Amino acid sequence: MLPAQPIQYSESRKVFLLTTRDSSYAFGVAADGAPRHLYWGAPLWRIDDLPAPAPRHDISSFDPRQMLENEEFPGWGGPRYYEPALKITRQDGNRDLVLHYVSHRIDGNNLEVALKDIRDDVEVTLHYRVYPDYGILRRSATIRNGLAQPFTIESAQSAAWYLPPGDGYQLTYLSGRWVAEQQINHEPIHEGEKVLESRKGHTSHNFNPWFAIDDGNASEEHGRVWFGALAWSGNWRITVEQTPYQQVRVTGGFNSFDFAYPLQPGESLETPAFYAGFTGGGFGAASRLLHCFEREQILPGGAQSRLRPVLYNSWEATTFHVDEAGQMALADKAARLGAELFVMDDGWFGARSNDHAGLGDWYVNPQKFPRGLKPLIDHVNGLGMDFGLWVEPEMVNPNSDLYRNHPDWVLHFPGRPESELRNQLVLNLARPDVKEYIFGVLDKLATDDHIRYFKWDMNRSFSEPGWPEAGPGNERKLWVDYVRNLYDIMDRLRARHPRLEIESCSGGGGRVDLGILQRVDEVWPSDNTEAFDRLRIQERFTEAYTPKIMSAWVTDVPNMNGRSTPLEFRFLTAMQGALGIGANLNKWTEQDFATATRLIALYKRIRPTVQTGDLYRLASPRTADTTVNEYVSPDAKQAVIFALRHSQQYNTAAPAIFPRGLDERAMYGVEALDGKLAEKQPQLSGAYLMHAGLNVLLRGDYDATAIILDRQ
Ligand code: GLA
Repeated sequence: MLPAQPIQYSESRKVFLLTTRDSSYAFGVAADGAPRHLYWGAPLWRIDDLPAPAPRHDISSFDPRQMLENEEFPGWGGPRYYEPALKITRQDGNRDLVLHYVSHRIDGNNLEVALKDIRDDVEVTLHYRVYPDYGILRRSATIRNGLAQPFTIESAQSAAWYLPPGDGYQLTYLSGRWVAEQQINHEPIHEGEKVLESRKGHTSHNFNPWFAIDDGNASEEHGRVWFGALAWSGNWRITVEQTPYQQVRVTGGFNSFDFAYPLQPGESLETPAFYAGFTGGGFGAASRLLHCFEREQILPGGAQSRLRPVLYNSWEATTFHVDEAGQMALADKAARLGAELFVMDDGWFGARSNDHAGLGDWYVNPQKFPRGLKPLIDHVNGLGMDFGLWVEPEMVNPNSDLYRNHPDWVLHFPGRPESELRNQLVLNLARPDVKEYIFGVLDKLATDDHIRYFKWDMNRSFSEPGWPEAGPGNERKLWVDYVRNLYDIMDRLRARHPRLEIESCSGGGGRVDLGILQRVDEVWPSDNTEAFDRLRIQERFTEAYTPKIMSAWVTDVPNMNGRSTPLEFRFLTAMQGALGIGANLNKWTEQDFATATRLIALYKRIRPTVQTGDLYRLASPRTADTTVNEYVSPDAKQAVIFALRHSQQYNTAAPAIFPRGLDERAMYGVEALDGKLAEKQPQLSGAYLMHAGLNVLLRGDYDATAIILDRQ
């Protein structure tokens, strides 16, 4: 039973109860005025069950009561030693900050709680939004300078979250590197602090701003899981602390490393949104909540956004060697296969024949495209495909007209080296003139050439993050203003060109987070397109992110690791997300074309289920010789099961598959690609499918099939 109101307030005890379908979250204002956490877990319906925050007492002169009080948003002041939510330095050097409740406002699913320092007008508004249907809460904070003098923010977090008291918790998080993104880590939480972060200026491949904590007993489909994701594409930080008093707390927001954000009187700063949820249904249920939430509440267009088209991208076929005739020939072949979006990658502009020159000069290369892009775009459109273009707007090669004209536009410290990575430097997007230049370039491309889709790349991390023109004390606003301006450019482009779609790429998965996802339609999870590696990367990508946005290409073999897998195995891997083809079609045989055409047609049939369905990760490539993922359509009329066997041993049969999410009483038509299924009955009941299971006939290495269950 859910309460009629998602946000309830008890005036007598000053307690707030926020409830979703899957979770409740409660806090209250303590007698001393500090908001304190009370509860986060399975749904509650009765606010009167919740006590007011209990008075606490110092344990010793080393264990003050503040160390036992789970403050919703602790300032750094008084005897507080954990990660603060806010730390400031006033102009006179005074750094003490103690935040107390002033007032609150409830408006439907939104709650705002105003806090203020106990002495002066350092003001904080805590924002809470409840998404009742998705089991998710959004928190952020606005810090405002109500003083007559400036102060500098040194740490601004979006939220502190507390788990129920106890120990035995386990932390799950995603880490990685270029071509090995989204590796999973699952480890016990012990006393001390674990830091997940980026100091690289972008989200980074090394850690992803997502976490899950379970009670130590959770598995894929069972158990209590608390999870969260930060919507920020710059320097971010999530800390997981276990205190000496068996309290686990998670704090996240702007990375406080090298952070210094001055606020003039009257100015304010809002932190990124930190989304979090709880489920009693294991890691799989946590992912499904996030997927649905992302599709309907985060992605541009939400539930109304179109299904992702089948894409062809020229990069792995031609690298920088693009020209009109070559691209047209590839487009002809891609259209024959059934591709719906043709994307020309790097190499079409300026003096760009390799990665040493041309970045920044966003005019069409006259040797490669003497007639401009229009003939190619018309040709692509004539074949029934949309046209997309690769851009890397935030970057510049020193060997470019842009850098020669504006050497001061890059991040730099005067008189210090400018470290090049991939022969390129980062443009300082925090500067208003640079921001306007980049907007102008992209707006012109979108206007003149009617570009439907930008593959927006970002191929290096920041270094020497200087902004000399900002003036003393303002230089480090860069960490925030860069990202805000990036978001602003994307938002304005989308507003002016409503049909425009954007893919976020950063050398693969270097910029995947809920902040960029509010502005892009899909992401490139990894430059690693080798199918067996991809199965692992994709599996853990889906811990946090919906398969709808997971661009997945079929490319040529041998690929990374020198590995060769059959074309069908590569297709069935890529068909589990937003399918793309990145192969050199000029080298394909007629048989390859026949296989691809058949599988692309199959993909289009199952695409709504794959892109908008519920994902069940039935068997992991990490623990089984067969990877099995099932997608169930929202109306439960179709289920699609992908089974990919990477290495049979000892002549064993592939493990039986037990689908989930079906209707026991319903009958399902059963169809297996290439007939690779032991069960030959054309129809089976949901009960039989889920409880007796299915047996796929997969042999040898890299054998795969797809099973389609259509409700009769
Ligand atoms: C990055 C991207 C690739 C490709 C190249 C082009 O590496 O991840 O997909 O676009 O840049 O230079």
